[in-house]
Amino acid sequence: MTARCTLQDLQKMKAAGERIAMLTAYDHASAIMAGRAGVPVLLVGDSLGMVVHGHETTLPVTLDDMVRHAASVVRAGTNALIVGDLPFLTYATPADAVHAARRLMQEGGVQAVKLEGGGTIARTVRHLCELGVPVMGHLGFTPQAQHQLGIRVQAKQAADARRLLEDALLLEAAGAFAIVLELVPAPLAAEVTRRLRIPTIGIGAGAGCDGQVQVWHDLLGLLDRAPPRHAKPYAQIGQAVETAIRAYVDEVRSGAFPTASQSSGMDPSELARALTAVDGCQR
Ligand code: KIV
Repeated sequence: MTARCTLQDLQKMKAAGERIAMLTAYDHASAIMAGRAGVPVLLVGDSLGMVVHGHETTLPVTLDDMVRHAASVVRAGTNALIVGDLPFLTYATPADAVHAARRLMQEGGVQAVKLEGGGTIARTVRHLCELGVPVMGHLGFTPQAQHQLGIRVQAKQAADARRLLEDALLLEAAGAFAIVLELVPAPLAAEVTRRLRIPTIGIGAGAGCDGQVQVWHDLLGLLDRAPPRHAKPYAQIGQAVETAIRAYVDEVRSGAFPTASQSSGMDPSELARALTAVDGCQR
């Protein structure tokens, strides 16, 4: 990518049947790597509450957390479109949403925000879009509502499936530029994708979506737990990190690290003068 990925690029990708790879990023170094690897859309997800801060859910994540992490991702200077999650209850009213989006865009530097929910937040989505804030929707399993929903595949019954489709159409009509579909049956996600003009980005929603999103730590095998069923670890970096740290600890203990080349030198005559000076010092 030679220029930043835009909403229009995503629209063109959908039209051309070119699939969109989105990945979460929470800090500077990982955003640089993702940018070099050509990821077109980076999500500063509130999943950082779990995978970075060690909470059980995304609910404790604050707007300050999001702003700080977003800013460090943005400073990586990638060409990815950077989307930031508005955290739990920061968009309960259109006015709250404007406040939260302003902070995440002005202080965090993201180009777009993501909100969880369907018809109930359509008015807020429309308000943000009318003010020039690009909004990504999020339907299906919405982690901020996990205590209501339970962590499970959503919309498996006809009535719920119909509601999900209606919600998707409402978000599109309100101006959302894309919608994440999380833990949605694959045939339903494919149908929603066919009916929408805007791209869908799936996670646990099958290959019929216009794109996929994965959580950084799941993709790279960074956590000491089995990844969710819908995740595919492309590496086992957590094990590699542990092995490297173990080797470091062993070498410090044995004295093998640091060697002379990893130490700072000093001109011998300067050292002699310093020792002489020290010799004259009182304890
Ligand atoms: O916060 C997050 O990482 C997300 C993705 C799972 C879509 O919302």
